[in-house]
Amino acid sequence: MTEKATLSIDGKQFELDVYTGTENERSIDITNLRSETGCITMDPGFGNTGSCFSSITYVDGAKGILRYRGYPIEEVAEKASFVEIAYLVLYGELPNAEQLTKFSSALREHAPLHSNLRTHFSGFPESAPPMAILSAMLNLVSCFHPEVLKVNVQGEAFDRTAALLLSKVRTIAAWAYRIANGKPINHPNPNLSYCSNFLHMMFSEPYQEYVVSPVIEKALNLFLVLHADHEQNCSTSTVRVVSSSRANLFSSVSAGVCALWGPLHGGANAAVIEMLEEIQQSGRPVTDYINMAKAKNNSFRLMGFGHRVYKNFDPRSKILKKQVHDVLKELNKEDSLLDIAQELEEKTLQDDYFVSRNLYPNVDFYSGILMRAIGIPLNMYTVMFAIGRMPGWISNWRELHEHKQRISRPRQIYTGETTRAYVPLEER
Ligand code: ACO
Repeated sequence: MTEKATLSIDGKQFELDVYTGTENERSIDITNLRSETGCITMDPGFGNTGSCFSSITYVDGAKGILRYRGYPIEEVAEKASFVEIAYLVLYGELPNAEQLTKFSSALREHAPLHSNLRTHFSGFPESAPPMAILSAMLNLVSCFHPEVLKVNVQGEAFDRTAALLLSKVRTIAAWAYRIANGKPINHPNPNLSYCSNFLHMMFSEPYQEYVVSPVIEKALNLFLVLHADHEQNCSTSTVRVVSSSRANLFSSVSAGVCALWGPLHGGANAAVIEMLEEIQQSGRPVTDYINMAKAKNNSFRLMGFGHRVYKNFDPRSKILKKQVHDVLKELNKEDSLLDIAQELEEKTLQDDYFVSRNLYPNVDFYSGILMRAIGIPLNMYTVMFAIGRMPGWISNWRELHEHKQRISRPRQIYTGETTRAYVPLEER
């Protein structure tokens, strides 16, 4: 780091360090700006703020590049299992056969939930959103394993904590669905793969074991791989902010689930389907909705469009679009919402409002249609995203602790009243 940037303020010049990453992206270090100049920087929504150094995931929004630990998303989406990718994101390298076997058996070992947890699941009302159940149960499950409440980022203690979370999140998610729908829970089957086991826990019925179709298992695997990490997005940043107070892994990812829930982030995958259904039921042309999204006095947005970082295309969306077509074909199914989605995409690609603002379909635009094809109910879509994102959240939690990063504490510019005297009640 030899490069410097010069800032001029109040007639004085200040030199600031410039850091360059391995992909040549650059940042100006403003850590001492306030103590040296009295100024803070202002960047609401952190659109141009680097919050950490990270070696997990690389995104180039202009070129539509996404790589996990250097591996292009297109390649891993086609070839890798979610368990391999989880290992890669967590440990930095693809596992060899022995490492994969060990990791898989740890996931198998941790799949069951403590029997006392049943009572807690039953305490939720039937209408409880599975995202609320997931966030609450993640904290609760940690109470049954006190060792994971300690911050361990190395060795066997970390391995065990990470595998426990990666495995139990899948069981919690499936049980949340079963209980919210008044169905008996299914215990994990140690003979099944990560994805098949989830499908079994979701869909097996008494005396009727769910038969996992290879097409559906492959589609679910791809969905999870595509969501495994995405650098400093809203939920991952939340996980990091919470972790920075030296919070344990389970409380940090439980906060991540809450951040993911919102419709501008992971909740968009369900919001897209609700929007497409509304378009279909209204019988109105898609251009009406496009015009609504463009209107300045209307808060309506096309869900599944736009991205803070991708300004050309979201590579995950391209992969998902192809996968949706392949899966529907292989399952011999049709989905009329896909036609509406494609029409929306085509029309917006020719519309100056969307083109000039670089608004393209994001990961959530086609993922809901894929979830529909594989039989996942709408209120579980964002839960599926959370299961997929777990390796990224765990890895970011670990990296923050390893780097001993300072507690997150942004500053503000105060715009309220200046000092004034207290007015007694009788004088107000
Ligand atoms: N429909 C219509 N207009 C949009 C949309 C949209 N989906 N997204 C952005 N715009 C417009 C904004 O109104 C703004 O217009 P203006 O310059 O005339 O004011 C311009 O495009 C820039 O938008 P911002 O809101 O400033 O972009 P930002 O980076 O803050 O937000 C976000 C990104 C939240 C993804 C936004 O595009 C959006 O709300 N999209 C719909 C929700 C969605 O799909 N979220 C999932 C994102 S992917 C993920 O989180 C996993």
